[in-house]
Amino acid sequence: MTNKGSRDKYADERRFFPIMEECIFLDHCTGGIYPTYSRDAMIDYIKRGSETGMTFEQFAEYWVYTDSVRNEVAHLFHCTGNDICFGSSSTQLFNIFINGLDLQPGDNVITSSASHESVPFILLNQRQNGVEVRFVDPIEGVTDPDQIFSLVDSRTRAICLNHVEKFNGFRHDLKIYGDFCRSHGIALGIDASHSAGVMYIDVNEMNVDFVTCSGYKWLMSPLGIGAAYISPALQKSLKLVDTGWCSEKERWNKNVYEPNTRTNACRFECGGLSIIGLIGLESAVKHYANLGSSDVQEYVLSLSDYLYQRVNLYLKEITVYGDIPSSNRSNIVFLSIPENYGLNEKFMESKGIRAHCFNKGTLLRIGLHYINNKRDIDSLIAFLSSVEQNNI
Ligand SMILES: Cc1ncc(COP(=O)(O)O)c(C=O)c1O
Repeated sequence: MTNKGSRDKYADERRFFPIMEECIFLDHCTGGIYPTYSRDAMIDYIKRGSETGMTFEQFAEYWVYTDSVRNEVAHLFHCTGNDICFGSSSTQLFNIFINGLDLQPGDNVITSSASHESVPFILLNQRQNGVEVRFVDPIEGVTDPDQIFSLVDSRTRAICLNHVEKFNGFRHDLKIYGDFCRSHGIALGIDASHSAGVMYIDVNEMNVDFVTCSGYKWLMSPLGIGAAYISPALQKSLKLVDTGWCSEKERWNKNVYEPNTRTNACRFECGGLSIIGLIGLESAVKHYANLGSSDVQEYVLSLSDYLYQRVNLYLKEITVYGDIPSSNRSNIVFLSIPENYGLNEKFMESKGIRAHCFNKGTLLRIGLHYINNKRDIDSLIAFLSSVEQNNI
């Protein structure tokens, strides 16, 4: 993977995001910004569809294109394109994992109550099959792997986690879970919707079996596209619950009496995919891969550390939420805001700050991407300091 080797490369990328000149954008967790290079590529696609429609030849080419995007998306997880399956969302893709495990009555699966609902709801749906769902509750935002391992028994089939928790920014050390799961014959499924494209993921080094992500957040793409890594072993053992013509080895030359299903990860794709989503995903991932995945993580974590420092140094009543050890910090940082400040997103936007404010204005979620810089954090701190002084 190439690495331009200089921090200025992030300033170079920033020019593809004109919004960064207009406001301090720190809301990548809600939805990423389409870079101008993706926007232009997506507009070209729409224009072609509007001006000339789609010939059969183009339709076939879109599938060739889809297969080429797999090789790009593989950079997110350090796998091969054969291990990548596309779908409409992280949630849809995670269903492939859980439904495909063929869980039996008496089996159990483990997750964290800090997860976005997406994964727990898929697990809870398995209760109809007699499967028990075991939850771990993080303590002050921190999940100790031993909390999870203490719930494991001989009927545990899967541990399912968000790589980075949406509700506190805690980043699980995937290798600890991967090594444990491999040695106990348990499947490890990870929702990386808040980390893919920013935090480093190497599925082989970390021993992860299944990973999903959404395109529309940190991967700066439209809603309606997601990607999953499926390990070669799971590609063989997961039950094919949903299938269709796209799972076929030979897409255009099918024997209606006898399907010849693919053996790689795209065997789990059933029908047409969002080409516009793939265009967005491809261009964003190309830039990410060119920046270097471990470099991006290092840079973004340095911004996160800088934010922690500045909050501690310059703010009095506004504090970092949770006591997250530095090795578990991530691209998401939560700040606790006194309720009587009445902080809200509209007010912040009027002051040129975009970040998600919730829980009656008592929590501020800050997302840090490689297009952010220390000046963004200084501006945020200056704003929050004035909020403290004026007590709006
Ligand atoms: C961790 C996580 N997974 C999944 C989702 C939902 O994404 P999708 O609609 O692509 O399933 C979210 C949304 O915020 C999320 O935070």
